[in-house]
Amino acid sequence: MCLSITALSACSDNDDEIVYKPNGKVADPKELSAGTSTVFMSGIRAYDTPATWVKGDLSTRFNLGDQLYDDPRTTDQDDPTKGGLGPLYAGYSCGSCHKNAGRTYPTLFSEGGSGKYGFSSMLVYITRQNGGFFRQYGRVLHDQSIVGVEPEGKLSVTYDEKEYSFHDGEKYSLITPHYSISEWYADDIDPKDLIIDVRIPLRHVGMGQIMALDTDELKRLAAQSNYPEYGISGRLATIQERNRTMIGVGGNKAHHADLTVELGFSSDLGVTSDRFPLEVAEGQSQMVGFSHYGIQISTKDMEDVDLYLSSLGVPARRNVNNETVKKGEENFYKAKCHLCHTPTLHTRQDAPVLLNGTRLPWLSSQTIHPYSDFLLHDMGRELDSGYRSGAAQTYEWRSTPLWGIGLQETVNGHTHFLHDGRARNLLEAIMWHGGEGSVSRELFSRMSKEDRNALMIFVNSL
Ligand code: HEC
Ligand code: HEC
Repeated sequence: MCLSITALSACSDNDDEIVYKPNGKVADPKELSAGTSTVFMSGIRAYDTPATWVKGDLSTRFNLGDQLYDDPRTTDQDDPTKGGLGPLYAGYSCGSCHKNAGRTYPTLFSEGGSGKYGFSSMLVYITRQNGGFFRQYGRVLHDQSIVGVEPEGKLSVTYDEKEYSFHDGEKYSLITPHYSISEWYADDIDPKDLIIDVRIPLRHVGMGQIMALDTDELKRLAAQSNYPEYGISGRLATIQERNRTMIGVGGNKAHHADLTVELGFSSDLGVTSDRFPLEVAEGQSQMVGFSHYGIQISTKDMEDVDLYLSSLGVPARRNVNNETVKKGEENFYKAKCHLCHTPTLHTRQDAPVLLNGTRLPWLSSQTIHPYSDFLLHDMGRELDSGYRSGAAQTYEWRSTPLWGIGLQETVNGHTHFLHDGRARNLLEAIMWHGGEGSVSRELFSRMSKEDRNALMIFVNSL
């Protein structure tokens, strides 16, 4: 048992902990999405607020990290604090894609594909049918560039819309994306040999907790997560990185075992570091005479970004005692959503260590409610993108954590969901679930309209 005044203690176990809200009232345990890291925010800053334990030196570094994350990088190739953008890139700052630590409105919908004004709010993965690379291109299409260099190509998307109805007559429709790439800067690529997999950003809710997950618990979950009666079986994503075998928890394909700060700077912004000293465009024919070798961001600065992401607070649940929300929670279980969107997990005992050695003991031994098992599931033909990543097959995706999802519209002004944003609202997101997720889609479809709505109101309380 440990008491915390104003929610700021680093307790070893938060199961029986009392947390006070900013208004002085004791928090309902159901509101606490992430123990002492829960923040009582429901406005536009809900994903972008430090946990209450971020104080003093940590707070200074949090703010530095926030700035490095949000400030557009300039094209000055020799300024290690603000420069290094490009020559090729996808966005001009981390925050350009992850606005307010969330999901920027997808340019897929606002601009029909690649952004025309210096950034695209998505990543475009490309590969050959046989899984190989294309000559002159990497795995990610860099569709933006600084002056004097051509973007690798531009993405366009069109959507086919199809209408469906539930048994009670309520109608809904789903849009299927068709992607194409034009304006290739070098070799034209045969569309028949090209696989395109588009991803909109993920919400950064709970990144610190995700990186601190007790992976033994995930292993046990993977061993147990086998429900033949429902056709569900989750699979742990093991990945090989830097000669180590690690468990992937980050990204839509659980293909990352860390916060990918270095990779983000290198591949998304074109900013080089100790770990990735070469520009992503290095080796391309148009880069002759343009190459910049060296370090455009220091490990210390990247650690501040790591610290910023790791110590963001997780927004508290809202309306937890509302009758419809409670009914919706029952329906969530009835529809078997919880078999993949696992309500409760724990973080490990040892404190997570950041890029440059900083420890964050506040993240250890916490009971958290991410609504994900962080396992890979076969989501069927419906969501098969044809692109493999890490341990994940083309049709496998990591159960997306649902904490904070109900605030996405407030924070980012849209309700696009799923890896490529094709779901325009919650209902469509559920109706896209195929493969192992079909059981939930069917159970949800058979509910009365009132029960379906209650379920979605519950999800919006997360
Ligand atoms: C051009 C848009 C873009 C930019 C710029 C960008 N990201 Fe991302 N980010 C994404 C997308 C899209 C994903 C989801 C990728 C996936 O899972 O395949 C992602 C995923 C992530 C994740 C994993 C999230 C999770 O929930 O597992 C982290 C962490 C992250 N980005 C951090 C950063 C940092 C740090 C920077 C800046 C150095 C950055 N990103 C810049 C688009 C972007
Ligand atoms: C078999 C495992 C499984 C089951 C069961 C399941 N989901 Fe999912 N869910 C996933 C996976 C995997 C994704 C990611 C798919 C993607 O992005 O293409 C996902 C994505 C989502 C998303 C989109 C989240 C976002 O931010 O983009 C929502 C919402 C969602 N699920 C809600 C539900 C609800 C509600 C139920 C029950 C009716 C349910 N899921 C049942 C595995 C599952």
